[in-house]
Amino acid sequence: MIDIVIEDFKALDMQQERLLLLDQRLLPVRQETFVCTSSEDVCCAIRDMVVRGAPAIGGAAGYGVYFAAKEAEGDRNKFDALCSRLASARPTAVNLSWAVERVRTAVLESGLDPLAARREADAIVSQDIAMNLKLSEYGNEVIRPGASVLTHCNAGALATCGWGTALGVIKYAHQSGKNIRVYADETRPRLQGARLTAWELARAGIPATLIADSTAASLIRDGKIDCVILGADRITAQGDVANKLGTFALSVICRHYGVPFYSAAPTSTIDFSIRKGEDIPIEERDSSEITHIEGVQVAASGVGVYNPAFDVTPHQNITGIITECGIIREPYDVNLEKLRLELGR
Ligand code: MRU
Repeated sequence: MIDIVIEDFKALDMQQERLLLLDQRLLPVRQETFVCTSSEDVCCAIRDMVVRGAPAIGGAAGYGVYFAAKEAEGDRNKFDALCSRLASARPTAVNLSWAVERVRTAVLESGLDPLAARREADAIVSQDIAMNLKLSEYGNEVIRPGASVLTHCNAGALATCGWGTALGVIKYAHQSGKNIRVYADETRPRLQGARLTAWELARAGIPATLIADSTAASLIRDGKIDCVILGADRITAQGDVANKLGTFALSVICRHYGVPFYSAAPTSTIDFSIRKGEDIPIEERDSSEITHIEGVQVAASGVGVYNPAFDVTPHQNITGIITECGIIREPYDVNLEKLRLELGR
């Protein structure tokens, strides 16, 4: 492990009785804090994507359960209802229900003590950062010096409790002195690549080129990309990966041209209870995300819209899944089952 220079910003920061979220709807133009003091505030922040990215959503939800435990004042039914509301704020990223269940269990075991929630939520945050650093060290092995790496959406410090997953691997390679270049997809419709990944790469001093999503295919065909590394919102027991819409198309192009395609995620993103990618619930978001950009109408009035936020990449298209326990490769069902046993889940 090299000496890492960590970011000077946080997607989420619990200070006394307030959860401070860096409002990701406003970046990169404005850097403002969104303050949560109730479980409902946390639900709204997750739903509206003030905080987004699977591990960051999980981290924020942990503190949401803390607020819920205080609000319930010992009423188990009320506590459970508030937890269910939190867990269903967004359906695809399994880190959300995973974190809510983990903190909820700690509260129930303590006899509904809110302090148990606070401790467990803090542990989720510090463990997430540690997992991201570890998986970045493993991921660094697949990046050659001078490589051009393409990424999609934002899987950086903003998407996690700190450091990042796919962008963590990229930053680790950069800080190892590998002299890499990053191509960042803008990531329509919410532009996480243009607004967030480009912002993080600039702050990290990593040479970066922003591209429209449709540019990736010809770059890959022309041999300009050494590998693709991106995040995950849910990984199934056979290694299928749900991630930001557009991930599947990239995987098909990479497979066609023989370019390595990696998903980087902590093991908290693996849902061992689901085998096939088809069974992952895919969030559909408001049509205005497609018909409008920053509040300005760009589509003809009245047109029908289909706006799934994620798609599923079959394991056959994935070269490796980079986790804090090492890089998982084919046969995914066998190797993920071994990992499940190691993790005791
Ligand atoms: O809709 P978002 O912005 O929450 O989607 C985020 C992604 O798809 C990320 O790639 C994923 O959550 C991994 S973040 C480390």
